[in-house]
Amino acid sequence: MVTLTFLAHWLHVAAALVWMGVQVSVALLIFPALATRPGSDARPLLGALAARIPRLMQVSGLLVIILGLVRGTVLGPIRTWSALGSRYALLMGLSLVLMFALIGYGQRTGPTLMAAIWDGEAVRPGAHAAMRRHAVVVLATLALITGCMVAMRFGV
Ligand code: HEM
Repeated sequence: MVTLTFLAHWLHVAAALVWMGVQVSVALLIFPALATRPGSDARPLLGALAARIPRLMQVSGLLVIILGLVRGTVLGPIRTWSALGSRYALLMGLSLVLMFALIGYGQRTGPTLMAAIWDGEAVRPGAHAAMRRHAVVVLATLALITGCMVAMRFGV
């Protein structure tokens, strides 16, 4: 059981690193870097990324959620109905809600944000501010989720 818990925990953390790493890279590096290029340079790169990123995010995100649930229930402290009222269960539920909220936010704003960066070849005046706002939402949500993880670990 310890080996299984170790494996599930490790795989959850590994998948979470990939999922979070892509979120951070897109918000802080890829979007801002593309927005320094004229539209005709950036759009093909954007298309190539859009063809690869979703699959990676779906697989890693699904692993994070399933293994997070398994780690907290079958292999963790939430094994009875009464444990659902604990702070641990609350933190798990909160992290799940926050993760789904971030997925929904990314699906809603990602394509519109990209479409709003260029006006033909030129970068629109408000594009950088919009990308900063997007990065703040992504980073703040990730900070809250990782805060939930640390709180669960330390029994806060
Ligand atoms: C961006 C999303 C997530 C990230 C980056 C993340 C990251 C982590 C990390 C790094 C740990 C290891 C903590 C440690 O050992 O000190 C962890 C543990 C854990 N995570 Fe997540 N996680 C995420 C989402 C979720 C979700 C959605 C759930 C619930 C469905 C979840 C449930 C858990 C549980 C139960 C643990 C074990 C806590 C313990 O008792 O030590 N995680 N997570």
